[in-house]
Amino acid sequence: MKYYFDAGEAGGKNLLLLHGTGGDEYSLVDIARFLDGSCRILSFRGEVQEEGMNRFFKRNGLNQFDFDSLEEEADRLYEEIKQMSEEKQVPLEDWILVGYSNGANIAAHLLLERETKLTKGIFFHPMSLEVHTKDFSLADKKVWLSFGDGDPIVSPESFNELAENFEKRGADVTIEHTTTGHQINMAELGSARNWLNTKG
Ligand code: MLT
Repeated sequence: MKYYFDAGEAGGKNLLLLHGTGGDEYSLVDIARFLDGSCRILSFRGEVQEEGMNRFFKRNGLNQFDFDSLEEEADRLYEEIKQMSEEKQVPLEDWILVGYSNGANIAAHLLLERETKLTKGIFFHPMSLEVHTKDFSLADKKVWLSFGDGDPIVSPESFNELAENFEKRGADVTIEHTTTGHQINMAELGSARNWLNTKG
């Protein structure tokens, strides 16, 4: 997969970025540096094409997910993460997944549906993909999730289903409500930065 890497400075957090639909490996770089000015960055570009837009798995229309593609791409992404972690000598458990929308959805799917060494995530405007095939404990996971009131893409039911799935399996869940729909705003970035300082 195409990626952007920046080694960052000593003591920085290890942020693994996954963009939203139509983004690329550079889309979340400024956000990552706002979250932690010294961070190491590994940022992937989604390989699925939808009318010229990059995504991390296929869909057949808004919120009509292709579940075969989701599973295939989740495996591929995790393989890439493992390979890059070895190459860059970053232990898997030291990464903090930072995803927006489609990128947040595949990252959350990895934590919920694969037994990985990944433990932390900052997920901007994720939703439930309604896949619940696993029930292993998530007691080692910490996630920060944001939800926008009036989001035209993520319904409150879908967001709550995702948050409850993490909670009931023992994850440490922090929820940030915003009032500006599906986009990322400054207030939630501040909240994510505080979370990173205390739990990341
Ligand atoms: C998006 O447009 O990216 C959706 O909100 C989420 C997704 O398709 O995974």
